[in-house]
Amino acid sequence: MRKHVPCRLGILVSGSGTNLQAIIDRIETGEIHAEVACVISNKADAYALSRAARHGIPVVVHENSSFSGRRLYDAATVEILRSYNVDLVILAGFMRILTDVMVDAFPHAIMNIHPALLPSFPGLHAQQQALAYGVRYSGCTVHFVDCGTDTGPIILQAVVPVEQDDTEETLSARIQKAEHRTFAEAIKLYVEERIQVIGRNVLISN
Ligand code: GAR
Repeated sequence: MRKHVPCRLGILVSGSGTNLQAIIDRIETGEIHAEVACVISNKADAYALSRAARHGIPVVVHENSSFSGRRLYDAATVEILRSYNVDLVILAGFMRILTDVMVDAFPHAIMNIHPALLPSFPGLHAQQQALAYGVRYSGCTVHFVDCGTDTGPIILQAVVPVEQDDTEETLSARIQKAEHRTFAEAIKLYVEERIQVIGRNVLISN
């Protein structure tokens, strides 16, 4: 377990940033021994940027319009993350698929949260997919990122019930509560060096 130097997190966002907020709060209470080195957004108007700024965290707006391809965009993202000496990359509602350029730069050191129990309902509108399918339970998954869409090794999952009268909004709200706990727990495990990845399997030590 890292005893002295806090793990440096680079958090990528696209939207509201409630997961970002949950991580910041748990760092501030001392529950997670880490530091948010930077928050990078691909959207200039993401509310997550205001949350970060309120906590004195460096923010970078990194839009994709001036890049001629996903790999070039990712190469520039890697440069930004390196400039902040990031150890672990967190995708907290970052709505882009990463290329090999990012994945190879941070092997087993990029985590994503997805609002469904993978491998069910990957990709966009996971909550709507779950409602349309008629499942009784859904939830969230924290996984390491590979080049697929929500396909990397699973670290933690949390289950939430789906109610008969759920809408996309009510189910999303229930899942988000579970996300905030589960993401923080996965980051804590990583920071405490309790995670080992063997193929698709993630082993967690006590
Ligand atoms: C979260 O529910 C997260 O699971 C989802 O975006 C939301 C971001 O919320 N991510 C994805 O769907 C990624 N495929 P937040 O900005 O309030 O943390």
